[in-house]
Amino acid sequence: EHCKGINGLDKIILRENRGFSAEVYLYGGQVTSWKNERREQLLFLSSKAIFQPPKPIRGGIPICFPQFGNMDSLEQHGFARNRLWSVDPDPPPCSSHASARAFVDLILTHSEEELKIWPHRFEYRLRVALSPAGDLMLTSRIRNTNTDGKSFTFTFAYHTYFSVSDISEVRVEGLETLDYLDNLQNRERFTEQGDALTFESEVDKIYLSTPTKIAILDHERKRTFELRKDGLPDAVVWNPWDKKAKAMADFGDEEYKHMLCVEAACVEKPITLKPGEEWKGRQEISAVPSSYCSGH
Ligand code: BG6
Repeated sequence: EHCKGINGLDKIILRENRGFSAEVYLYGGQVTSWKNERREQLLFLSSKAIFQPPKPIRGGIPICFPQFGNMDSLEQHGFARNRLWSVDPDPPPCSSHASARAFVDLILTHSEEELKIWPHRFEYRLRVALSPAGDLMLTSRIRNTNTDGKSFTFTFAYHTYFSVSDISEVRVEGLETLDYLDNLQNRERFTEQGDALTFESEVDKIYLSTPTKIAILDHERKRTFELRKDGLPDAVVWNPWDKKAKAMADFGDEEYKHMLCVEAACVEKPITLKPGEEWKGRQEISAVPSSYCSGH
């Protein structure tokens, strides 16, 4: 279903039979909503989010491409999150559960203007799908379409903002004992010592070569998010906490208590594509009542 969202920006609504739904803005190719069968919002979207180009939308799942962070001369987190994507009216079929699955394919390619900033031709196909069980599945296929024989290199993240009841009650499992780069300390490398991660101050870390499954346990809401990823070795964990929250114009002062970013990413070892080559990276998230999870 194609309709108008905030400020007249185009959005697509996906619905599944069980009542799960998702919304995707063509601006940024960005998922801004994912609701379960009880119509509960599972992603965080700031009440101060600005739906106005060129500002990226604060919340949901921004796409960081062709860079995660600001290592390059490009804008922070790349340009994909503040460009207008288009819908592929005739997408290739889904490989499995084709009949039951709601999905949309969005396309982003280089514009002439973009070539001045990042001199590479590419085709980026983003498939956003809801599985029959309500899982939100994002698949990115990025192809080098350069005609000058040149390779290009990029880093990437699905900058996923999860909605949580109270950050101080949240635990993240699957990243303990791993090495990480600390964005708050010039990306210096450390090793996580503790048990499951808990949160009591600002965090901005890139966990390296993580397991493919990460769990985010929201004790108060009795909900566990499971994140599964493929082609994306790293995982970013971010919460701005109080001081940074206050410094962001498009983020409420207290909103840090109700969000946590856990992002399937590829940061440490950038991806290089030769002309004609394609890269694929997937992230799937599910939300399950905690009582159904074994061991918690
Ligand atoms: C995180 C980064 O993923 O995104 C942080 O690790 C950054 O360093 C945050 O502050 C938000 O970035 P932005 O550009 O959306 O404000």
